[in-house]
Amino acid sequence: MRIPLFQARDLLLDSQVVAIPTETVWGLSANMNSVDAVTKIYRLKNRPPKNPLIIHLADGGDIFEYLLGSPPKGLKDLTEQFWPGPLTLVVPVLEEKIPSIVRAGLGTAAFRVPALASTRELIRYVGPLVAPSANLSGKPSATCVSDVERDFGVSFPCFFPEGYNDENTELGVESTILIWKISPDGVGRWHVGRLGALSLSLIESVLQMPLVNTLQVDTDQPLCPGQMFRHYAPEALLTLGYTLEDLKKNYDAVIGFSDRCYPDASQIYYLGRSDSVYEVIRNIYRVLRKLDEDGIQRAWIDCCISDEEQRRESLWSVFFDRIKKAASK
Ligand code: TXA
Ligand code: MG
Repeated sequence: MRIPLFQARDLLLDSQVVAIPTETVWGLSANMNSVDAVTKIYRLKNRPPKNPLIIHLADGGDIFEYLLGSPPKGLKDLTEQFWPGPLTLVVPVLEEKIPSIVRAGLGTAAFRVPALASTRELIRYVGPLVAPSANLSGKPSATCVSDVERDFGVSFPCFFPEGYNDENTELGVESTILIWKISPDGVGRWHVGRLGALSLSLIESVLQMPLVNTLQVDTDQPLCPGQMFRHYAPEALLTLGYTLEDLKKNYDAVIGFSDRCYPDASQIYYLGRSDSVYEVIRNIYRVLRKLDEDGIQRAWIDCCISDEEQRRESLWSVFFDRIKKAASK
């Protein structure tokens, strides 16, 4: 159910959960200080209690009131350059200022400032909002209001700003997560916790120091607890296709690029042009959800992207990250 700003504000102030649009994906929001409302989020999503939530702030400067100790190196530059925007920062916090359930008991918390002005206006009225992506745990994230309604029911309250264009969220994929960690030698560094809409090379150019990226290392203790759990998966069985030859086998559908040709017999879902990684990333979740709506059982996804292309556009790593997770059962 689409509701205007004042109604969303009243529900949130009354410890209810309200879906909110952001420039990345839709979120399921609650007043950070209402333990009742935050508990409802975990229940609604069927989210493991060990998976902490992102705190959404109205203004970047607000993060400084929660910090434990002196600000991590580069924090000010990151917040000034990339907020509002698709970057989440995990830092050590003053635990008494943030309910434990939000942090899943950790001594750190995740923060971001969403880019959509009307969502920031809502936050200004209510105070910081926690918001995981508005999908059932394990399912693809939601990029339009009807995705949220499909997962949580048509009467679920969704903040719908006046004049909002709901075709698809602007970026279509979650924020990039960085985590500040001090190593045993006492040196602090930013680690990559999740690949997302903001490219790592852009972040490094502002930070002027390399990020530590151990995402490829196989571990059962990832930096973001959320990476442990099954993610982004449609019902359909996905096969990653690294040569067009593979396509000879029998699939119900092909997920591919609009500037390429596939066998006529296949049902084709287009992600966008292969030379526009932004368009492709923006459409991933929309296409994965469409497979389920259409009852597709087995789909082949075109992963033929040259190494050179991947080096030139580092955001292809986000495409492969989400697709691999969607394909793992
Ligand atoms: O773009 C986004 O970030 C969206 C929109 C709604 O803002 N939100 C989102 O939330 O993707 P969620 O809950 O789906 O993913 C949050 C991730 C999880 O992997 C969680 O483990 C990690 O952030 N996280 C949160 N707090 C953390 C902490 N203190 N330490 C490490 N990871 C943390
Ligand atoms: Mg999520």
